Amino acid sequence: MKETVDLIVTDAAEVVTLGGRGDGPLTGSAMDDPAVVVGGAVAVRDGKVVAVEAAGAIAAAYEAEQVLSARGGTVLPGLVDPHTHPVFDATREGEFDQRARGATYLDITAAGGGIFSSVRSLRAAPRERLASRLRSRLDRFLACGTTTIEAKSGYGLDPASERMSLELIAEAHASHPVDIDPTCLAAHQIAPEFKQDRGAYVALVCEQILPEAARSGLARSADVFCDQGAYTVDEARRVLQAAQDCGLERRVHADELASVGAAELAAEMGAQTADHLVKVSDAGIEAMAASGTAPVLLPATCFSLRLREYAPARRMIEAGLPLALATDFNPGTSYTFSMIEVISLACGLLDLTVSEALVAATRNAAATLGLPGVRGRLEPGAVADLIVLDVPNHLFLGYQVGWNPVTEVVKDGHLVWRRETGAVGASPT
Ligand code: NIG
Ligand code: FE
Repeated sequence: MKETVDLIVTDAAEVVTLGGRGDGPLTGSAMDDPAVVVGGAVAVRDGKVVAVEAAGAIAAAYEAEQVLSARGGTVLPGLVDPHTHPVFDATREGEFDQRARGATYLDITAAGGGIFSSVRSLRAAPRERLASRLRSRLDRFLACGTTTIEAKSGYGLDPASERMSLELIAEAHASHPVDIDPTCLAAHQIAPEFKQDRGAYVALVCEQILPEAARSGLARSADVFCDQGAYTVDEARRVLQAAQDCGLERRVHADELASVGAAELAAEMGAQTADHLVKVSDAGIEAMAASGTAPVLLPATCFSLRLREYAPARRMIEAGLPLALATDFNPGTSYTFSMIEVISLACGLLDLTVSEALVAATRNAAATLGLPGVRGRLEPGAVADLIVLDVPNHLFLGYQVGWNPVTEVVKDGHLVWRRETGAVGASPT
């Protein structure tokens, strides 16, 4: 007698599970093994994975009304993107061109562009336009195989527009297949109207914006951009302390443009992640290892900024840090929705193996987030978020560039996107 399940995904050359080896993220040499079931299949019931085994064993033990053929492709858990800025109005492709002509990110910021340009456009934009732009972006994340993201506010920089940005994220989370873990980034920059009184804006963030974000339940975490041209270490410490005092987790944009001691601060303040880390010091890596702060590396940003310098990923793995990757999707410094592109960039620029990059884009990325259920891996009990790719094995993830190999996306056990047809009835747009 076969057990009835809702869905069987079969005919895969490989099912990459990222499973086993305990509950947490993978570290050290374990990152180099993504746990592949050759010729595997997946059984799904009630939105959860029931079994991942050889296709013959699944066919012998389970029957399902819905069978999805992977047509000899590769099956992965839905990709997890733990650092995005998807709530904004205008794009900033002109800045990308200015950088190609020699301007730096800091030059553009000093001239009133960069984050300040996005703040001006968001504050002037109708709410419904921001909502519909956010939904279209989530459609693109989904089409690139990403089923869970972390999303930050941070282009409002006043209490009302930061709150509105977080409300838009909550509305999108409730109505779109992509799951979202929300972060308040009111400390992205000093609001332009406080240029002459930085302390007053830091106080507004600490005393009003973060406590309100926590009270309303609209944010789970707070973030601060601690770097040259942004928050000083002392200002960022105040923000992180206020976040902790109101019960928010902490994330830090750390040491991207200069080595300012932001990684050390993130560790000192018990932050869940320190992100970017292009200029991190050895002491910063040691402090993160001691505190359990996870590095989130963003190679697409280095590429877009033409930094020609990259976070020391190998040293972090050797130090035992649970490395994660993200797009940093934002209008200024990283306009990509694709974790698969980020995996390629991590192999080519950060010298990761495909297996390490894949672990960093799934299981380890999920470990930095707070959404319910086991995500970023396919094993019994995990959330049934999975993607089918038209490639014969997982090594194609680093190797093939410029083609989106995703053919199907399953979210919570339901087929929500298919290459031929786009969204399958699940997206409100
Ligand atoms: O993560 N580094 C700081 N913040 C963003 C850039 C935001 C922007 O320029 O709009 C980042 O790269
Ligand atoms: Fe960012």
